[in-house]
Order: sequence, then C-alpha cells, then structure tokens
Amino acid sequence: MTGLPSVLSVVGARPNFMKLAPVARALAARGARHVIVHTGQHYDPEMSDAFFRDLHLPRPDHALGVGSGSHAHQTAAVMQGLEPVCVAEQPDVVLVYGDVNSTVAAALVAAKLGITVAHVEAGLRSRDRTMPEELNRIVTDHLADLLLAPSRDALDNLAQEGIPAERVQFVGNVMIDALKVALPGARALEVPQRHGLTERAYTMVTLHRPNNVDDPDTLRELLETLSLLAADGPVLFPVHPRTRAQIGRLNGTATTRGVRLLDPLPYLEMLALVSDAALVITDSGGLQEETTWLGVPCVTVRPTTERPITCAVGTNRLVAPRRAAIQEAALSAVAERPATPPVLERWDGSTGERIAAVLCDGARFD
Ligand code: UD1
Repeated sequence: MTGLPSVLSVVGARPNFMKLAPVARALAARGARHVIVHTGQHYDPEMSDAFFRDLHLPRPDHALGVGSGSHAHQTAAVMQGLEPVCVAEQPDVVLVYGDVNSTVAAALVAAKLGITVAHVEAGLRSRDRTMPEELNRIVTDHLADLLLAPSRDALDNLAQEGIPAERVQFVGNVMIDALKVALPGARALEVPQRHGLTERAYTMVTLHRPNNVDDPDTLRELLETLSLLAADGPVLFPVHPRTRAQIGRLNGTATTRGVRLLDPLPYLEMLALVSDAALVITDSGGLQEETTWLGVPCVTVRPTTERPITCAVGTNRLVAPRRAAIQEAALSAVAERPATPPVLERWDGSTGERIAAVLCDGARFD
C-alpha cells in the first residue's frame, strides 16, 4: 500500500461503538480517509445515539437501518446493504469490530469483494458454539487478512486454528483506550451521588444473553436472586431491550422487589456507576474487561468466557444462573477484591494508536 490507506469501519451494536472511537481518533490524527458505516443493528437512541454522543464519534457516513430480526435475516440485511457501499467507497481496508452479527456480515461482504478485512478483537474464543458470538468470531477470524488481538491467549487460539502468524498482531485491548479517555469526565458527573449511592456500597447488574433471559425459569431465578441481594444494599439493573421484553412475558410471576430496574444507560453514566461499585453481576463481554481494568469485582453469569484473562487475574469469576452459586460468588468476589487493579499487557490506552500504525505505517506488534 502506498500513502495512507482508505479505511471503512462497520459498526452496528452497542459494544462496537467504544471500540470504534479510539481507532477513529487515531486515524483522524494521521489524516487517513475513514468512512463509518452504521448497520442499524441497534437503533434505540439509548443503545446507539447516546454512545455516539458520549464517545464523540462523528455521524456515520452511511446508515443501513437493518434493525432487528432473526440471525439469518439480520446478517443478510447487513450484507445486502453494505455491498453497494463498499463498491461505491472502494476502501483499501474494511475494519470490523468484536463479534456481533454486523461483524461477520461485513467481513463476508468485504472478503468476497477482495477488500482487505481487518478484525479488531480477533482471536477470542469461549469454545461454546451455542453462543452466536462464538460462531461470528470463528468465521470473522478465518475471513480476515489482518487479525488484531487484544491479549496473548487470543494469539494462542488463532495459532491452534492454523491461522498464519504473519496475519496476526498483538495490538492490545482497544476498549480500554475508550475507558481511559472517558473516565475523568464520567467521574465528574457524580452519577452515584445523583442515585443516592455510596462508593463501594452497591451492585451493578446487566443481563441480556439469550441463555439467561430467554428461558422463563432461568430469568425468574435470576431476578429472585437479585431481589435477595437487594436486601443487603442497592442493586441497579439497567435493562437491555431483549431482557425487558422477556421480563414482560413473565407477567409479574417473578419478584424484582428492591431491584432498581433502569433504562439502558449511556456510556459515561454506566462507566461512572461501574467504577464506584462494590460488585458487578453481568453476562456482558465488555464489562468483564472494564471491571478487570478498574479492579472492580465481577461475577459473570455464564458457563464459559472468551476472556479467560479476566478470571486469571482474579477480578472475574464464572457462575451458573443459580441463586446459591451467585450469592456465594458475590460474597467471595467482594471479600477478595484486589488492593490495586491488575495491570494487563497492552491494556494501556494506546491500542487505537497501534492499530493506526499497523494500517498506515505497516508497523508490527508481536
Ligand atoms: C447483540 C449482540 C451481542 C451483544 C449485544 C449487546 C449478536 C448476535 N448479538 O445482542 O453479542 O452482547 O448486542 O447489546 O449480534 N432491540 C431493541 N432496540 C435496539 C436493539 C435491539 O429493542 O436498539 C431488541 C429487539 O427486540 C431485538 C433484541 O433487542 O430483537 C435483540 O437485539 P439483537 O441486536 O438481535 O441482539 P442483542 O441481544 O442486542
């Protein structure tokens, strides 16, 4: 490639937006052409616009407006919408982020058009093929020409799958860039105080995985568990639209007594609340990483994680969606809170810059 490459980023769902922001900033600083495509997988203002605002992201150049649907429907809609955009924009590189349906759809479109595909957050594996994200990760990584890994375990996973090492680079965790930039401003908002909360005296919850919220019995047990925890201190639960719909289907047959059910929170408010929490209970991928960097104890309600490094350093633990298991893990997680946050290799706030260096200067990070 001669000169600066023309880059096209594809994002669609909430966890993509904080990965895009540091890359967009680093590419802008170098003066590279950067086209942003929003697929519209997430479209509610609090799931999308609020994040563009908090992260100071420019308006997308193209909005595909695909909306919700089955996996096949959503993936196909992204592909159909994106293909003519790629043909018209003729980028040198298509950047895809994370593991959502928009990610795999975009990788397929670009690869078939012969455009270089670069995957940010490559190489993560839960080894649980019942998770749609795991299938998205595997397919995306095998289509990608350039695999940008957040941690060394990701390099091992890719080597095991026979992906040539020259395609893989260890750039670090780009979400931590976004977090480091946003944290001072988030703290200045005094969000816990506005909710009447004392530092390290409350629990933040997010649950939205189909495995946890789509089965009524599992969801009922989870809500009852949160209600029991709320007897010991405030429990705040910003509720994802999928979860809200499933709670509605329980027709009041589950207790949420004491649990503060909120609308999805914007990035800065959520970050502020998480950073001061005693405990986070979640099934999110991103929160496992954010809590690790912040040194906040995290209980992840899942049988596996694609981010084992968060468990290895001691901030995160996995539990089944069962009352006794969650109560026990919550107690031990808080009791064993690390004195200082762990320091992870290349979770340092410079990953966006490394990605831009790879794309623009042909730099290598092993
Ligand atoms: C998607 C990602 C998941 C990620 C999550 C973060 C896939 C396969 N899953 O899951 O990895 O952790 O985003 O939020 O890509 N809905 C709304 N408004 C919106 C978006 C969704 O009401 O703005 C509702 C719709 O009823 C929709 C449902 O939520 O059917 C699920 O949305 P979808 O994007 O299909 O998957 P998520 O569960 O959000």
